[in-house]
Amino acid sequence: MRAVAWHGKRDVRVDTFPDPKIEHPTDAIVRITSSGVCGSDLHLYEIMGPFMEAGDILGHEPMGIVEEVGSAVTNLATGDRVVIPFQIACGHCFMCDRGLHTQCETTQVREQGMGAALFGYTKLYGQVPGSQAELLRVPQAQFGPIKVPEGPPDDRFIYLSDVLPTAWQAVAYADVPEGGSLVVLGLGPIGDMACRIARHLDVARVIGIDLVPERLERARTFGVEALDLREYDTDIVKVVRDLTEGRGPDSVVDAVGMEAHGAPVAKVAQHITGFLPDALATKLMEKAGVDRLTAFHLAIELVRRGGTISLSGVYGGQADPLPMLTLFDKQIQLRMGQANVKRWVDDILPLVSDDSDPLGVESFATHRLPLEDAPRAYEMFQKKQDGAVKVLLQP
Ligand SMILES: NC(=O)c1ccc[n+]([C@@H]2O[C@H](COP(=O)([O-])OP(=O)(O)OC[C@H]3O[C@@H](n4cnc5c(N)ncnc54)[C@H](O)[C@@H]3O)[C@@H](O)[C@H]2O)c1
Ligand SMILES: [Zn+2]
Ligand SMILES: [Zn+2]
Repeated sequence: MRAVAWHGKRDVRVDTFPDPKIEHPTDAIVRITSSGVCGSDLHLYEIMGPFMEAGDILGHEPMGIVEEVGSAVTNLATGDRVVIPFQIACGHCFMCDRGLHTQCETTQVREQGMGAALFGYTKLYGQVPGSQAELLRVPQAQFGPIKVPEGPPDDRFIYLSDVLPTAWQAVAYADVPEGGSLVVLGLGPIGDMACRIARHLDVARVIGIDLVPERLERARTFGVEALDLREYDTDIVKVVRDLTEGRGPDSVVDAVGMEAHGAPVAKVAQHITGFLPDALATKLMEKAGVDRLTAFHLAIELVRRGGTISLSGVYGGQADPLPMLTLFDKQIQLRMGQANVKRWVDDILPLVSDDSDPLGVESFATHRLPLEDAPRAYEMFQKKQDGAVKVLLQP
């Protein structure tokens, strides 16, 4: 089969691999019809190299058609149309029972001290071959795959794999009080969708912040007050306070993560780790602060006293200096983590099945490209060229 493989910093290629086979009774093989490119893939593309190996297959936002199931998979049959959550979870352990599928105790990557295995996501998360491919082996298929009906285009359902539950969890964890206000930092796919969900759930005031004009414009069409960071720079805190009765918003979602613009020191550290031999670079990333914490610091500044910050942007360093004094003094509540996909699917399914398409999923992708164009897709998405916000790869 053909699949997108990581080869080095900003170097992905489409290579030929042996077709995956059923390895365990709980596996399924799915023929992929679409797989998204995610902001999390960009971390692998740019700075997570020390945790990657040349030939690792990328991708974790898939849907497709079941080709074959293992003997223990009784809920699926050949020909079923399915969306696959980005995390691999068993559905029956202590953590899964509590809706914490990204902490699944059956698939936890214990040798790395990490949570549940993820598709296409570094040695830290089990080095499981990803979904930007013609075929995908799906472990724990007795639980993970979400069956969806035939008929509507892939765009209706594909975001159940990651974007929708991640954005939903971001808003749920932000815990905006009734009549309250929410700031969403970053209007990439995750932040954009978090804004739409917040508006749909009747959050009274949603303010989005980014620095890419077409991303700001997309948010505005969903009733978001979108502010261009380039226009306000450090005044942004004052501007937002003025919009929120002088206190700051009740809640802030950080949908930016470790590659925020505007943090020169950490950018140098990230650049250095990109060029060190892997063993040294891994140590440096694990032991030192390499995140660009600009967005998180801004969230801490912005949020009102006693408010809540919900982090969905991914961070990766172990010793990043944090303003503990401010966090403590402002009595800020902080929630974060990879999204627990199946925890939110029942809330979201009715919305993506609704003819009126309240979250605008049918027009959410800006580009649909053949799998073979993956190198261009990554470059375009990373550099935000050609209006790229969400790219789907279609084998
Ligand atoms: N928690 C999860 O389960 C989960 C799932 C998917 C993605 N993510 C993470 O969410 C984040 C966003 O993903 P995405 O797909 O939307 O990617 P993205 O890279 O397209 O989005 C990031 C956005 O932040 C903007 N930005 C950069 N610096 C900023 C700053 N200082 N202030 C405000 N905005 C800034 C960028 O212009 C961009 O639009 C990534 O870190 C990704 O890894 C987390
Ligand atoms: Zn993702
Ligand atoms: Zn489990």
